[in-house]
Amino acid sequence: MNILVINGPNLNMLGRRDSQHYGSLTLNAIEDLLRKKARELGAGAEQITLQFFQSNHEGALIDFIQKESFRAQGILINPGALTHYSYALRDALADAGVPVVEAHLSDIAQREPFRRISVIADIVTERVIGLKERSYIVGLEKLIARLRDIPA
Ligand code: DQA
Repeated sequence: MNILVINGPNLNMLGRRDSQHYGSLTLNAIEDLLRKKARELGAGAEQITLQFFQSNHEGALIDFIQKESFRAQGILINPGALTHYSYALRDALADAGVPVVEAHLSDIAQREPFRRISVIADIVTERVIGLKERSYIVGLEKLIARLRDIPA
């Protein structure tokens, strides 16, 4: 099973961003946690491969989704601030035709009004917000559970 793990603008700066909202781990450290969780979830079952991508550019994220989603069974994404306004990213995710889980480190429902809006919320299968790095772990668990429920 191949899962795309996608991070949008500024998430390459984790570890140096406001730790109250985003925790203190770097993106590399979060990716390591996800690799470990993927190994656990894949033990004794179909192996789970994670393909990581981060970009500060909307178009690069869309290019990656268009190019790689054919080979993927699901997408775990934190679009960063693009969450709140990128209809183009929303369209790319909807067109990918695979289940998408939206993850956010901070509790975007309790922050500034503009962050309370997610333009992808209604096209994703699950949302996990406000658990810091655990949002990604729980998001991966939910995505895999969902994919395993789907009859082959
Ligand atoms: C974020 C929340 C966004 O509002 C913000 O722009 C980010 C990170 C989060 O993970 O909490 O960059 O997606």
